[in-house]
Amino acid sequence: MPKRLYIETVGCQMNVLDSEMVVASLRKHGYELTNDPKLADTLLFNTCSVREHAEDKTYSALGHLKKLKTKNPEKVIGVMGCMAQKDQKLVFERAPYVDLVVGPGQLQQIPELVERIEAGAKHQMAVGLGRRDGSVDEIKRSHETFDPLRDPSMRPTPFQAYLRIQIGCDKFCTYCIVPSTRGPEQGRPPQQIYDEARLLADQGCKEITLLGQTVNSYKYVDGGTTTRLADLLYQLQEIDGIERLKFVTNYPKDMTYELLQAVRDLPKVSPYLHVPLQSGSDVVLQRMKRGYTVQDYRDMMQRIRETVPGYAVSSDFIVGFCGETEKDFEQTVELVKECRFKNSFIFKYSERPGTKGAELMKDDIPTEVKQRRNNDLLAIQTAISEEDNQEFIGRTVKVLIEGPSKRAVRQGTQDEPTLQLIGRTHCDRIVVFEGNQRQIGQTLPITVYDATAFTLFGNIVTQEIRPQPYTLQIV
Ligand code: SAH
Ligand code: SF4
Ligand code: F3S
Repeated sequence: MPKRLYIETVGCQMNVLDSEMVVASLRKHGYELTNDPKLADTLLFNTCSVREHAEDKTYSALGHLKKLKTKNPEKVIGVMGCMAQKDQKLVFERAPYVDLVVGPGQLQQIPELVERIEAGAKHQMAVGLGRRDGSVDEIKRSHETFDPLRDPSMRPTPFQAYLRIQIGCDKFCTYCIVPSTRGPEQGRPPQQIYDEARLLADQGCKEITLLGQTVNSYKYVDGGTTTRLADLLYQLQEIDGIERLKFVTNYPKDMTYELLQAVRDLPKVSPYLHVPLQSGSDVVLQRMKRGYTVQDYRDMMQRIRETVPGYAVSSDFIVGFCGETEKDFEQTVELVKECRFKNSFIFKYSERPGTKGAELMKDDIPTEVKQRRNNDLLAIQTAISEEDNQEFIGRTVKVLIEGPSKRAVRQGTQDEPTLQLIGRTHCDRIVVFEGNQRQIGQTLPITVYDATAFTLFGNIVTQEIRPQPYTLQIV
């Protein structure tokens, strides 16, 4: 009988990809997936440490397993990912019934460690080195991943996949735990990336999202040749079957003109750029050690406007960072109004033990103030998103159709011959429309008739479109 694996994933796209790799490796060891923890032989939690809330959720989920483990001591419970790397033995202290703690750089050891536990071993732990606990090479090696293993069933959809081009981060923003959980920045060799993209295309992927914490700082030096993100995009553009290429997350300082030209010139590359600003105040940016000023960001926006037609930029913000005054916050509001982001992810500052922010600065903004600033900024961003989305009404956009909409799933109509579908434009806007099963996975023209802040509503254009450059704008 095959063994059963239950896996829960929180955190960023890196974690989604890591879970895909772990499932692929456990399948090789005879595992099948299950959605029911009670039926599982092994239960894995892929965790995130970026904010305290993410950790609390994981510890609470683990708390719910205590009874199950007491009744079924043969079940293996594992914690993997960033919180495993950050908390290490503390996981066993807080949840003694956990058997396994594995950092993001040790995931390839999971099948072997699970076997050891099944053979009677207690608390097994495999984690990467701390950022001061060895030579640079030793530290780097201890954070390497094992990307070639892929499992199509774990992807966002059968047509979309993530592809890691970079591990780790060296920016050390003062609020951020990622450089210690994911280790030093390392670019993967271009040939490996290309081969993996080919494999994904062969498996039916039409859209690939390249992943890195600061993806546009990607650099790989081999002898005398340096490969950067723009070079990779030119190489990947050539792969048949791939229709769209995206890349996240960008670091403002590394958004070079060469990269923007590649985005403009390569038809498969989405004109969608996620480039977190974090704050609109120079004093706060400096305290965050972001390495750019508001003016630098404005200059970058100007470069994008001038270079990339049909661009869409999105951002992240942290509100209530140490010492953030009302005036600092107002400057952030101003920048949001000025930049008109497609959307923004807004977070309340959460102090992370082990970061410079926690060590050197006081988390002095009251929770209510953080909450109010979060609400205010979100309201302003939502109004902008709605206004800008309205501009799409009457236009025809090309949409990669991802599958049933949330409403279709909620109503149980996802398997009907006709149903409500969801997809995205090339600039990453969500589009909802009526269609049929056969259209899932296709890229089709859709005319937009309504728009909210988060969604465009449209109709599939059923007649063949002839080029009509003056009346029809395809975005
Ligand atoms: N590498 C990406 C982001 C990684 S974390 C980048 O540099 O853009 C994703 C987002 O979480 C960050 O952009 C930031 O807005 C937020 N974040 C990170 N640490 C945080 C903290 N301690 N408290 C609140 N939000 C945080
Ligand atoms: Fe964290 Fe800054 Fe690195 Fe992004 S760039 S992962 S925010 S340290
Ligand atoms: Fe979280 Fe780790 Fe990603 S801390 S945001 S899962 S890199």
